[in-house]
Amino acid sequence: MDTKKVNLRKGLEEDVFLSAGKVLRSGGTVAFPTETVYGLGADALNPSAVKKIFEAKGRPQDNPLIIHVADWDLSPYAKEIPEKAREMMNEFWPGPLTIILKKTEVVPLETSAGLDSVGIRMPSNEVARALIRALGHPIAAPSANISGRPSPTNFERCVEDLDGKVDMIIGDGSSIVGLESTIVDYSVFPPRLLRPGYITYEDLLRVDEEVVYEEAKTKVEEEEVPKAPGMKYRHYAPKAPMTIFRGETQKVENEILRQIEEMIKFGKTVGVFAPIERKSVYNGKNIIFVSMGTQKDLDEVARNLFEGLRRFDDAQVDVILSEGFQETGVSRAIMNRLKKAASFHIIEV
Ligand code: TXA
Ligand code: MG
Repeated sequence: MDTKKVNLRKGLEEDVFLSAGKVLRSGGTVAFPTETVYGLGADALNPSAVKKIFEAKGRPQDNPLIIHVADWDLSPYAKEIPEKAREMMNEFWPGPLTIILKKTEVVPLETSAGLDSVGIRMPSNEVARALIRALGHPIAAPSANISGRPSPTNFERCVEDLDGKVDMIIGDGSSIVGLESTIVDYSVFPPRLLRPGYITYEDLLRVDEEVVYEEAKTKVEEEEVPKAPGMKYRHYAPKAPMTIFRGETQKVENEILRQIEEMIKFGKTVGVFAPIERKSVYNGKNIIFVSMGTQKDLDEVARNLFEGLRRFDDAQVDVILSEGFQETGVSRAIMNRLKKAASFHIIEV
C-alpha cells in the first residue's frame, strides 16, 4: 500500500484535512498526532474500516478500541452516563482521559471487540480535533505502534511502524504528554482506574473518591480473563530483555555497575536507561546510555519514555538495565509502562 505522508512541521498544507477526511470517510486509515501518543485512526462507526486498524497493527481481535470525539454530546454512543463520569469530563476534557461507558448499538462490536462498553476520549490536540471534524463523527484509534512495541510519540516512529500498512500518516512534532491516556471505567461500580496516566489517580480521587485502583503486579496469564482487556498482552516492549532497579540511588548505581561488568564479560551490548543526572556514573563503561530526561521533572521523563525505549532497539542492545521510581502521581504511570516493558522484572535493591 502506498502511504501518503504529511509532516505538518514541514509547512502547513491547506488541503491535508480535506484529503484525510476523504480517506476516513471512504473507510481508510490515518495515523495522526494526539497530546498523549500518536493514534492510528479509522471511522469508529464503520466495521470494515475498523478491521483495517487491527490488520495494520497486528492487534489481537479481542482488544477493544477507544473512540475519539470532538463534541460534548455523547448520547449517540453512550448510555447511562453517571453523574461523576460527567464531572470527570468537565474537569479533564479535552485532554488525556478516556472514560469507559455502556455503549449504544451505534458503536459496532468490531470497535468494542464484542464488549457492551466503549472507551471515549476528547483529545485536546488541534490536529486530532480537526481530523475528527473532517470525518464528522468519532475516530477509533489505538496507539499507532505495531502491536507490542512502545507507542510512537513522533512522526518518524509512526512511519517506522506503519509505512506501507496505512493510507496516510500525519505528523506534527512530539506528543506533549508522551504516555497514553488515563483510563477510568464508569461502566462498573465502583468506577475503576484501568490505566494510570498523566491525569493521576490522585487527580481522579479529587473528583470522585470512589474510584478504585488495583495495580497489576505481574503479567496476566493468557488464559485468565483480564479486567482491562489490553492488560494481557505484552506491551511497550523493547526487543531486548529489560530489568528495573529501584531503591536508594547509591545502591541502584552499584548494582547496575555490577551487572554491566557481568554482562560485558559475556560479550553483551548493554543499554542503561536512567535520568540524565546519572550519565556521568556510567561514563567510559562501554554501554549505550539513554537519558530519560531530568529526574527533577517527571513530566519530561514521561515525555521521553517511549522514544527512549525505542532507542535501545535502534542500538540493538542485548539487555537493558533501567532505573525505576517510587509510585505516586505521574511516576505511577511511568512505572506502569516501565514494568510492562520489563515484563515486571524489577529488583528492589
Ligand atoms: O492516549 C490514548 O489513549 C491513545 C491515543 C491514540 O488516544 N490511544 C490508546 O489506545 O492508547 P490503545 O488501544 O493503545 O489503548 C487503549 C486501551 C487498551 O488496552 C484497551 O484494551 C483498553 O484501552 N480498552 C478499550 N476499550 C475498553 C473497554 N470498553 N473496556 C476496557 N478496556 C478498554
Ligand atoms: Mg496501545
